[in-house]
Amino acid sequence: MPDTANASQADYALELLDLNCTFRSRDDASQRYTAVSSTTLRIRAGEFVSVVGPTGCGKSTLLNIGAGLLAPSSGEVRVFGQRLHGINTRAGYMFQSDALMPWRSAIDNVMLGLQYRGVAELEARAQAQAWLERVGLSEFGDRYPHQLSGGMRKRAALAQVLALDPDIILMDEPFSALDVQTRQLMENEVLDLWAAKKKAVLFITHDLDEAIAMSDRVVVLSAGPGTHPIGEFVVDLPRPRDVAEVRHQPRFVALHTQIWNVLREEVLKGYAQQLKKAA
Ligand SMILES: Nc1ncnc2c1ncn2[C@@H]1O[C@H](COP(=O)(O)OP(=O)(O)OP(=O)(O)O)[C@@H](O)[C@H]1O
Ligand SMILES: [Mg+2]
Repeated sequence: MPDTANASQADYALELLDLNCTFRSRDDASQRYTAVSSTTLRIRAGEFVSVVGPTGCGKSTLLNIGAGLLAPSSGEVRVFGQRLHGINTRAGYMFQSDALMPWRSAIDNVMLGLQYRGVAELEARAQAQAWLERVGLSEFGDRYPHQLSGGMRKRAALAQVLALDPDIILMDEPFSALDVQTRQLMENEVLDLWAAKKKAVLFITHDLDEAIAMSDRVVVLSAGPGTHPIGEFVVDLPRPRDVAEVRHQPRFVALHTQIWNVLREEVLKGYAQQLKKAA
């Protein structure tokens, strides 16, 4: 059971400490928008943590900061106790949008990161093929992204991230575009892969069912501006879990009710803001 309060600093794979993040408005440079405010989030090695929050609240911003792609306006990021400067090389990032290169085949996409790391071509190809097999794409290595279904593209993107064997996995709504059945299959596959290697996972999702089914802990973010955690829930459901079956357990239903009570208001606020922006 994760015990965030009693863990020493070295136990944490990733710490986002007192983060603030302010952007200049795209339309008017004199206007500023505070996306994230006073946010602290710690993920232990081997822990699976989900972050849920209304649309546009700042979830991807937090992940970008954790990946070292974006510097916070204030606060700091620690990776296994060390302050992060620049890119977080211990983290693999599965982006919200498709990040496969359209001009490279599936296997060439999976190999790319390995080659950047200096792995020789033959070895990189063998490792990439092994990962394609693990995600059910052994026959599809020579296909280009446009020749793959949405689910297959997600599988290839997953292989691309896992091939680098990162200690921290950052996932930004990886399955939100998939149909329910494909999504549940992939969620179970991710849980199996995670159980085998026990990496730290920071998983962003809109979907509370998905967050509870997958995680050790669920963190709820407030609506923006100035999003920050407003609730944290330990998911004490036994593992291994089947994401489709676990949602029928009374404990799952109780947790869902408890978390939704906190999230509901924020979702309504976030939705109202989106409508206002669109008007
Ligand atoms: N580079 C940027 N410049 C200006 N504003 C930005 C920038 N990046 C994000 N924002 C703003 O910060 C807020 C948070 O954005 P972010 O993408 O982190 O939200 P999100 O929670 O991931 O949204 P979604 O659920 O739609 O994926 C939004 O209002 C967005 O418009
Ligand atoms: Mg996002």
